[in-house]
Amino acid sequence: TNQEEKTQLEGIGLLEKLFHHLLMNTEDGQEALEYMLNRGFSEAQLAQYKVGWALPGWETAATLLEKKGFNLSLMEDAGILIKRDNGSYFDRFRNRVMFPIEDSKGRTVGFSGRIIHPDKNEPKYLNSPESPLFQKNSLLFNLHRARGAIRKQKYAVLFEGFADVIAASETVSNAIATMGTSLTKQHIQQIKRLTDTVIICYDGDNAGTEAAYKAAKELASNGMTVKVSRLPADTDPDDYIQKFGPEKFKTDIIQNASSLMAYKMWYLRSGKNLQSEDGRLSYINAVLPEISSLRSAVEKELYLKQLSDDTGVSFSSLDEQLKTFMPIKETEVQPEPLPPPKKQTIMKAH
Ligand code: CTP
Ligand code: MN
Ligand code: MN
Ligand code: MN
Ligand code: MN
Repeated sequence: TNQEEKTQLEGIGLLEKLFHHLLMNTEDGQEALEYMLNRGFSEAQLAQYKVGWALPGWETAATLLEKKGFNLSLMEDAGILIKRDNGSYFDRFRNRVMFPIEDSKGRTVGFSGRIIHPDKNEPKYLNSPESPLFQKNSLLFNLHRARGAIRKQKYAVLFEGFADVIAASETVSNAIATMGTSLTKQHIQQIKRLTDTVIICYDGDNAGTEAAYKAAKELASNGMTVKVSRLPADTDPDDYIQKFGPEKFKTDIIQNASSLMAYKMWYLRSGKNLQSEDGRLSYINAVLPEISSLRSAVEKELYLKQLSDDTGVSFSSLDEQLKTFMPIKETEVQPEPLPPPKKQTIMKAH
């Protein structure tokens, strides 16, 4: 019921305050605070996003909630407590840096907690479980803060992690992130209400690059304009900001984002040695079907010209090849058929 939901939000809000206090003002939170400051987060950012610390003990939250008269079974449904076989309750989140997760109205509906010491037996991030309040398939981190900026700047920046959103917040106010899921229809509908343009800025690793392709296609097939940022392999936005600062991040990574096609070419190129004939041929074979699937003649010419510049093969030869739409033989002996344009494989970046 509504009253139950209200009580759950109050319980979550109480923990949010407790965690934040523990991080900012107590000796117990000191190591975690140093960890966050060392990562380059400022005290102002920690305050704005109400980042906190959950103590290692088993019943800090349970004891507080009970003392305040909360119905603990309701708190279990809200994802913050877990029930033992003997009927008592313990804290779901322990010994973690706590990131409150807010819904589109700005209400804190759950948490994601990060361990600060790597541990093989523990996930890096522990999220609130799915519940009527906490639904990862439709949650977009920071949406309620970014809404105005997205409308005003006429585009949204989509990150893979909420740590990236916070790290970029000094220069990128129109930032949102999914909660570790791929981009869903519900996410896209929410973004579409604010803008038709998205810059995807996922991690530079393989997982991030593949996810960026997928998200870009989803957005484009929903009629949106998509650009994709290019980050060095094995760098994510928050790493980049830590190294080079939020201003350089904004100008060199966000404002320098490329079209999906240019991104594909950059990515396919990065896995190949264009100094070698084999490398050039396999790059051309990977790119031509992509170019041939473009609808606009202008775009076709643009990327064909780029391909010509990249490989030193003349525009007219490439154009001819495109028309016949036949693969160039990679070797004399074993001609490789072109993959169908839709089912493209993604080459590993080195
Ligand atoms: N994620 C998760 N559970 C994990 C790892 C990741 O839910 N065990 C989700 C989180 O929402 C996270 C996102 O996937 O924000 C991106 O993961 P990753 O790139 O590994 O995290 P970072 O944002 O880079 O976090 P950090 O910088 O703290 O390592
Ligand atoms: Mn990642
Ligand atoms: Mn990351
Ligand atoms: Mn990171
Ligand atoms: Mn990292």
